[in-house]
Amino acid sequence: MSRKANKVFNITIIGGLGHVGLPLGLSFANKGLKVCLYDLNKEVADQVKNAVMPFIEYDADPILKKVLKNGCLQISLDPTVISSAHYVVIALGTPIDKYLNPETRLFLNVIESFKKYFHLDQTLIVRSTVYPHTCQQILKLLGENKEWRIAYCPERIVQGYSIRELVELPQIVSGLSQEAVEDAAKLFSILSPKIIKTSVGEAELTKLFSNAWRYIQFSITNQFYMIAQNFGVDYDRVRQAMMEGYGRAATLPTPGFAAGPCLLKDTMQLSAFCGNEFILGHAAMMINEGLPNFIVKNLSKKHQLNKTRVGILGMTFKADIDDVRDSLSFKLGKILRFQGATVYYSDEYAKNSDFVSKEELIRNSDVVIVAVAHSAYRGLVIPERIDIVDLWGIINKTKVTTKI
Ligand SMILES: NC(=O)c1ccc[n+]([C@@H]2O[C@H](COP(=O)([O-])OP(=O)(O)OC[C@H]3O[C@@H](n4cnc5c(N)ncnc54)[C@H](O)[C@@H]3O)[C@@H](O)[C@H]2O)c1
Repeated sequence: MSRKANKVFNITIIGGLGHVGLPLGLSFANKGLKVCLYDLNKEVADQVKNAVMPFIEYDADPILKKVLKNGCLQISLDPTVISSAHYVVIALGTPIDKYLNPETRLFLNVIESFKKYFHLDQTLIVRSTVYPHTCQQILKLLGENKEWRIAYCPERIVQGYSIRELVELPQIVSGLSQEAVEDAAKLFSILSPKIIKTSVGEAELTKLFSNAWRYIQFSITNQFYMIAQNFGVDYDRVRQAMMEGYGRAATLPTPGFAAGPCLLKDTMQLSAFCGNEFILGHAAMMINEGLPNFIVKNLSKKHQLNKTRVGILGMTFKADIDDVRDSLSFKLGKILRFQGATVYYSDEYAKNSDFVSKEELIRNSDVVIVAVAHSAYRGLVIPERIDIVDLWGIINKTKVTTKI
């Protein structure tokens, strides 16, 4: 259905309280645009209305306070606000199912449920990471005979640092019509230093390739780590030797858990798109997802695990944030418990009644695994009686670490 309405807002963001929607809305509101965040989550909505960020997003707190006070930001649980904006940004999640296939139908069903609120003088901007051809499918369900303006402008920020990166990174802008591209580019030029215009297909692949590329980069360093460990050589020293004065190896990441809600999901979306023939993507998944098993297997060579207390430091999916979605720390804990170990969890940012403080964890453990490189663990002093698994090399090794 198409109907016009008064434009109270410049932008309404659907899924506006999520990790992508909220910082984007804050950034536009900070530039003086009238932004409405539409979401279903009442608890988070109440929190944000009270100027409390629901998750760690560096530099967001003062902006949230400012834009609530000056009236540039509103939060709503009422979908009719979708009609009241010129731009409608879709920042909903795009999950994969338990067989690693994208759940595009669920995403499209949600979009379809909003059809009655869309009208032809709006520009719809898909911000979620989508399976290729999703924008064409949105057009199909809205009605191909009408002149809908649909743009695809993928998010490429690193979680937790959106406020900084949104004004630093170039923005990919694509659309199903020239009008959609021009109108979306006009919006993003307010934030981004550079607009890169592409076709929708190019934009979809740019986003999926970027995440798959990062996921594969992590897998190669993880595989090197495992080879070095099996060979009895310190991978940290090998990596340093590879990189020192040798620019071609300068981007080799440190080994460690590569997980979270995006990298694996997007690698698997790409794999599904190319008929499960993305061999490198699958190999990367086996390596990255296999790292917890490798750690436990090596520990079991040195310790009788059913008599060992193991502490896991860091439960989030990456350092210095509070997001535990798809974190491999939980998988590690599960494998250890399956082997009979007593397992303790601790985190500096994520809250959970089952977690203990890092001090208590260290006091009670025979083995400590640094699963996340939170800054707070740098230089942590751990008694020599404790065996440490420190993939990131952030604990003072000369004093306390024994390699597995
Ligand atoms: N998190 C990241 O750093 C990141 C980076 C780049 C791209 N992405 C992509 O962006 C998309 C969103 O990811 P996210 O991490 O922000 O997810 P999220 O789960 O943090 O946010 C989704 C939001 O949508 C809301 N929501 C769900 N159903 C809704 C509905 N029917 N109506 C209104 N609101 C609804 C949820 O309450 C939540 O607030 C995904 O496609 C993801 O792959 C995420």
